[in-house]
Amino acid sequence: MKFTQVQLAALAAALSSAQTLNIPSRVGDVVALPSASAITGSVDLGNREFDRGQPCNSDADTGSANAVFVLADGASLSNVIIGANALEGVHCNGTCTLTNVWFRDVCEDAISVLGTGDALIVGGGAQEAKDKVVQHNGRGTVTIRDYTVVNAGKLYRSCGDCTNNEAKSPRKVIVENIKAFGMTSDLIGINSNFGDTATISGSCGTTKSVCRQYKGVNKGNGDSEKLTTTDKCFGAQGQLAKLPLCDGAAPAPTKVTSTKKATTTTKK
Ligand SMILES: *[C@@H]1O[C@H](CO)[C@@H](O)[C@H](O)[C@H]1NC(C)=O
Repeated sequence: MKFTQVQLAALAAALSSAQTLNIPSRVGDVVALPSASAITGSVDLGNREFDRGQPCNSDADTGSANAVFVLADGASLSNVIIGANALEGVHCNGTCTLTNVWFRDVCEDAISVLGTGDALIVGGGAQEAKDKVVQHNGRGTVTIRDYTVVNAGKLYRSCGDCTNNEAKSPRKVIVENIKAFGMTSDLIGINSNFGDTATISGSCGTTKSVCRQYKGVNKGNGDSEKLTTTDKCFGAQGQLAKLPLCDGAAPAPTKVTSTKKATTTTKK
């Protein structure tokens, strides 16, 4: 078939819209923070964009000192864009709420839930996360709702091999109304041997698997092992092998525009 210029332009537009996160327009210039910004209480940043002025040149988990925002227990952050030049994104020390937080180009992972408490992630999205979007190391429930992910490994993984991993479990994850484009790994990964559960509903898109159970380990005991069981995967979509395609969207091509290296690290 021979394409006209007009057809090619339309095709290119369709492909690029399938691959790009629809981040709201930035208000003002990108702000490069000299240190991680501590958030307490409830903070609305009005769609301004922040990073650390530090290119993503390491796949290692470099800790909260390199985060853009660190939320104190009980804090809420809303309407903000996390820019490309940062090693770490948003860290939650305990209970936290992230509303319409957008990640332009994730480095190691976008959101790390570190302490004991529940995290609510509602609205917003993340793209170009070679590894995970949400890394859950603490104990509690992470809810991810009305969220879009484009070109990522996993949307959520409970820590495979953290220090005192079993003592910091179980972890629970609830995902509702997720749009996932071009994911290369599991939508959700949990440690079923530590009592983790996943509840998945209302979601669409392309992922390698929907809910993957692992045998988690404590640090120093090797890597977590992929299992074939799905008995801790609940919700209307927990047992699906694949999600339905999102309405009107072609399966997103897996073309990756970022130059970051692939990573296989999990947080210790
Ligand atoms: C988050 O936790 C770390 C480690 O306990 C602590 O040093 C830091 O001050 C906390 N940050 C906030 C914003 O609560």
